[in-house]
Amino acid sequence: MRAGRSGRLSMWLGRVRAESPLSAVSETTRAFYRFVRAEPSACADSKMATMATSAANLKEPVDPGHGLRSYSSQLRGPAGLVREVVGLLRAHGGDPGPAVAATLEHLRALEDFAVSTTGLPLFDLEMLDVGAGQRLMQMAYFTAHGNRVVGVDRDVIVQGLDVAGYVRMARSNGLRRVAKTAGRKLLGVDARYHAALRRELGVAADPGPLVVHQMDATELAFADETFDAVYSLTVLQYIADPARALAEMARVVRPGGIVFTQFLPFTGVIGSFDVGALGGSTSLPDWSHLRVQLAPHVREAAYLNRLRIPEWRALFEGTMPGCVFVPDDSRREELAPRARRLQEAGELREYEIDELVASEVRVAWRKPIATPDDEPPGRARP
Ligand SMILES: C[S@@+](CC[C@H](N)C(=O)[O-])C[C@H]1O[C@@H](n2cnc3c(N)ncnc32)[C@H](O)[C@@H]1O
Repeated sequence: MRAGRSGRLSMWLGRVRAESPLSAVSETTRAFYRFVRAEPSACADSKMATMATSAANLKEPVDPGHGLRSYSSQLRGPAGLVREVVGLLRAHGGDPGPAVAATLEHLRALEDFAVSTTGLPLFDLEMLDVGAGQRLMQMAYFTAHGNRVVGVDRDVIVQGLDVAGYVRMARSNGLRRVAKTAGRKLLGVDARYHAALRRELGVAADPGPLVVHQMDATELAFADETFDAVYSLTVLQYIADPARALAEMARVVRPGGIVFTQFLPFTGVIGSFDVGALGGSTSLPDWSHLRVQLAPHVREAAYLNRLRIPEWRALFEGTMPGCVFVPDDSRREELAPRARRLQEAGELREYEIDELVASEVRVAWRKPIATPDDEPPGRARP
């Protein structure tokens, strides 16, 4: 009896769907979905045609659709998406001025660190931004300071009203990425952000479309020794094979040029979790992700490689001998007593206090000049 009733119900639903004007809409939606999910190679040519070209020395043509998924495709299901959107709105809903100012202050501090440790002023250089991000903030900053900057990111980065870009993004990084990016743009979040950035940088206009290739950090399609400076901010913790990414960064920088980077160690107080994606929640108890009882309730917003600081140090020293590797413990006074209390209560004992108090790590390296023919980067080169 039950089966008969549900059978009749589904036949009736089928008829209603077929007769409904909505069926045409949903067929269009399905067709769009099929289109964006089609094999990347089907539109590789058009993607190549619409991709910005770079003055930089590409070793081989870039195949942007080579199956790269968005780095943040970790949170599955509608609940994850809703949580993420709420978090992003909370984080970016108001006046972005203070956040932009804080990000620039952080960037200037990193620039000071890179310049003071390597001796290379970041001006008039060919630069590469690895993992440039959706907002291209650092690219805009270094461009405004007289450098020629190329970016790469695993995600498609859409600038302005670029419908083809959104289709590429949907095909390559999924509809979730499109929803987040389009949502930010439709709500005017990005426009407000860029206005705040222009104010902070003291420039009248955005630098114009920036050159960003869809490319994986572990497989850079640039010839050896292409750039004077290579940097990567808040990216390395998301990469499954960071050793390869570091080797690539070291490969594409010129002798005398520099690599500088900053990343979030997994053992930090909120780990390397994307706070925005976690609903803006900094109210998670300290080191939740490392504590046996709490860790199962913490959801990663993206893949994390979970490397510990000594492992990072060994990786950097192996790839970039002589690099300056500095865990930032500026919050030590505040965090160390909290970490000690937890250790006294029997938690977090497998971690050093030094690791627990480091909220980020900064690294800078100057690639040795190998031969007398190596030109120093910057103004000297034609
Ligand atoms: C948290 S965002 C940081 C963006 C930007 N660097 C910033 O500081 O604003 C991390 C970025 O790294 C990119 N990413 C993650 N894994 C990558 C990989 N293997 N190759 C290139 N980019 C990657 C992501 O797509 C994302 O745009």
